[in-house]
Amino acid sequence: MFDLTGKVALVTGARRGMGKSHALVLARQGAKVAVTDISQEECQLVVDEIKTAGGEAAAFKMDVSSKADVDAVFDAVIKQFGRLDILVNNAGIFAPKPALEITEEDWDKTININLKGEFLCAQRAAKEMAKNNWGRIINISSIASGQVGVGIEWGAHYTASKGGIIGMTETLAIELASLGINVNAIAPGAIDAPMLQSGAETEELKKYTERIPLKRIGKPEEVSAAVIFLASEEASYITGTTIYVDGGWLSQ
Ligand SMILES: NC(=O)c1ccc[n+]([C@@H]2O[C@H](COP(=O)([O-])OP(=O)(O)OC[C@H]3O[C@@H](n4cnc5c(N)ncnc54)[C@H](O)[C@@H]3O)[C@@H](O)[C@H]2O)c1
Repeated sequence: MFDLTGKVALVTGARRGMGKSHALVLARQGAKVAVTDISQEECQLVVDEIKTAGGEAAAFKMDVSSKADVDAVFDAVIKQFGRLDILVNNAGIFAPKPALEITEEDWDKTININLKGEFLCAQRAAKEMAKNNWGRIINISSIASGQVGVGIEWGAHYTASKGGIIGMTETLAIELASLGINVNAIAPGAIDAPMLQSGAETEELKKYTERIPLKRIGKPEEVSAAVIFLASEEASYITGTTIYVDGGWLSQ
C-alpha cells in the first residue's frame, strides 16, 4: 500500500521544515519529486539527500505568488519528468502582527503567498493531471483556519489565508472530481518545524504541549504520513476533506 512508484510529485516550500519532509517521504515511496522553494541552493541540498537515498528528484526556484514563476517551473517539471500526478501545496509564511497594525502590504503578502499561491499551483497542476485523468492535490492549511475554535493572536492575515484554503479545497474537489483529481487539505496542529519555532517562545510551546492530549509537539514526518496517504491510490474515495494532524488538540 501507499506505493508511489512511477508518480511525479511537486512540493512547494520544500527547502526545509515540513515541505522537505514531504519531499523526502514522497521519494522514499517511489515518486520522482520536484523540490521547489524560493532558494535553488537549499532545494538542491534536499535533492542531493533524495538522490543519496536512491531516489529521483530535481530542484526548482519558484515563488508561488508569481504566476509567471509558477507557469515556468511547471513547464520545466513536465519537460523533465513528462507528467505531474501529485501536488503538495505547502509553501506559506506567518508574519505575526497585532490586527490593528497589519498594513495593506502585510495583508496582501500573506494572502498572495499562502492562498493565491496554493490556487495558482492547484490550477496549473490540475491542467496537467487532467491529461492522465488522475491526480492528487494536497493543500496544507492549519488548525488555525476557522470553524474549529482556534484563532492565533497576531495572525488575522494568516488565519484568513488558512481558512480560505479549506474553502478552496472543497470547491476544487467538486470541480475536479470528473477529471480524476482528488483535492484534500491537511491541517497540522503544533509541529516541530520552522514556522512554529519562529512564532512561539519556549514558554508558549510548553503551554501548547500541556493542552495537547498526546502531550507533545508533532514531528514533520507525522504530517508527511498523511500526505503519503492522500497522495496514494488507497485514498481514491477521499476528496474535499480536511485531515487534522494535531495530537488531539481539537478534541479538547
Ligand atoms: N509548524 C507548524 O506548527 C505549522 C502548523 C500548521 C500549519 N503549518 C503550515 O505548514 C507549512 C510548512 O510550515 P513549516 O513549519 O515547515 O515552516 P517553513 O517556514 O519552513 O515552511 C514554509 C516554506 O515556504 C517557503 N516559502 C515562503 N514564501 C514562499 C514563496 N513566496 N514561494 C515559495 N515558497 C515560499 C519557505 O521558504 C519555507 O521553506 C506552512 O504552510 C505552514 O503554514 C505549520
